[in-house]
Amino acid sequence: MRSSLITATAALVGSAVAVPWGKGGLWGGKHDPTKCLNWDTANYLATSFQSLIAAFSTTTAETVLADDFTDFSNSILSLIGQPVDVPAFTSKEQFIQGQGAQPPVPLEILAIDAFNCQNVTLRWNAKFGVGPQSVNGITHLTASNSQGQKDTWQISVIYTEFDSLAWWKAIGGTVNPPPPQPSS
Ligand SMILES: *[C@@H]1O[C@H](CO)[C@@H](O)[C@H](O)[C@H]1NC(C)=O
Repeated sequence: MRSSLITATAALVGSAVAVPWGKGGLWGGKHDPTKCLNWDTANYLATSFQSLIAAFSTTTAETVLADDFTDFSNSILSLIGQPVDVPAFTSKEQFIQGQGAQPPVPLEILAIDAFNCQNVTLRWNAKFGVGPQSVNGITHLTASNSQGQKDTWQISVIYTEFDSLAWWKAIGGTVNPPPPQPSS
């Protein structure tokens, strides 16, 4: 079950993901895979994040999100007209309800730029909606492994910021530029 999920989510991006040090390179295998992310588990979490946006499934969310899950994103809050600097989702249940109600967005991973024991950072692009618009984003995932097996890594925190103006236009919103500033 778990390994088929890994295979399925990895297949979503396949060769589109490239890292300079490559699979099993610089860091891969040098750490205890139950205590530190390696290439495989970092890639699993990045592609799981992708699949939550591109092809949401409650099963994936239940599996990959930690029980203490939080999502920080002023971009999401701006997009939905809420005050910023608070979490966009304060729990796994809230994320499942909120994200689960969104239409799928064809998010593609441009690169997994870095990972260490606890974190994965990736860049992504999505082209969709009116135009279509091209939306770029950067996502930092903090991982945890409360079950302590090498294939039980989960996402505890998502920090994601993206071009919410382009996203707004993609969903049919319009943008009025500010009036010219008086010259001083
Ligand atoms: C992982 O990212 C979080 C959030 O930015 C940070 O607080 C933490 O120190 C990072 N952990 C490591 C090992 O870099």
